[in-house]
Amino acid sequence: MNFAENLLVRLNTKKMGKEIFFKPQVDSTNTWAHERAKSALAAGDSSIDGAVFAAGCQTAGRGRFGRLWDSPQGENLYMTLLLLRPEILPQNASQLTLVMGLSVAQAANRILGKGAGIKWPNDVVVSGKKICGILTEMQVRNDAAEYILIGTGVNVNRQQFPRELQDKATSLMQQRGQAVSIEETAALILEFFEKNYEEFLKTQNLFGLREAYEGLLLNKGRQVRILEKDGEYEAVAKGITETGELLAEDKTGEIRKIFSGEVSVRGLYSYV
Ligand code: BTN
Repeated sequence: MNFAENLLVRLNTKKMGKEIFFKPQVDSTNTWAHERAKSALAAGDSSIDGAVFAAGCQTAGRGRFGRLWDSPQGENLYMTLLLLRPEILPQNASQLTLVMGLSVAQAANRILGKGAGIKWPNDVVVSGKKICGILTEMQVRNDAAEYILIGTGVNVNRQQFPRELQDKATSLMQQRGQAVSIEETAALILEFFEKNYEEFLKTQNLFGLREAYEGLLLNKGRQVRILEKDGEYEAVAKGITETGELLAEDKTGEIRKIFSGEVSVRGLYSYV
């Protein structure tokens, strides 16, 4: 069976992944999904809402802040979920990155039994090391989201990491001690995402997901260093708001709201 068949037989969703497109190699699954979304909109075709674009490897995998996402062949999951004309206001779309982070952490815990948590806003971490990256992108027209892409890269069976990543990255296989099915990982993520997304749509925010998210938030109750453009300070992470900002208590006792994208949050003594 190929990737799409292997994923479909495991998938228990109504919408997410009902269509699966797979290429052994692609520049970036997000770039590929952008192209397909644009042609679908031009053709008035809504059938690919909820489609998944996945690849065996990426030659130009994209990370946040314009970074490259290292995407070797066959070991990991590289997939982009397409939401076509979603009922989401553009200003709420970035919260979907947290919804996907939560879904990946839940899927990882199902696979590993326990141990996966979230480093705010959306790094999924096991044993203090990152297993996943998420890149959410959106096309807006006339103040409406034409489509949203949620690109997810999970280190599934990767065993060797480049020197600069060795202290920061791990894989499901390294943590479980045996190989993990890439398709099973994708199916679990999509199932958790579908449930979490339904909850998100009720309020267009994280109101109904906050408890689950905070239950997995590794920063909670820990000291963090907030790195802003023009300075840094220490605080204790308290949780998140209903729209996904980190709540952090600074040394004066003031609770500050930290917006992702503007700052970097580090643990005081470790990555988390
Ligand atoms: C990050 O910088 O942490 C985000 C990395 C996102 C990588 C995934 S892999 C699948 C999808 N396609 C891409 O080009 N990027 C995302």
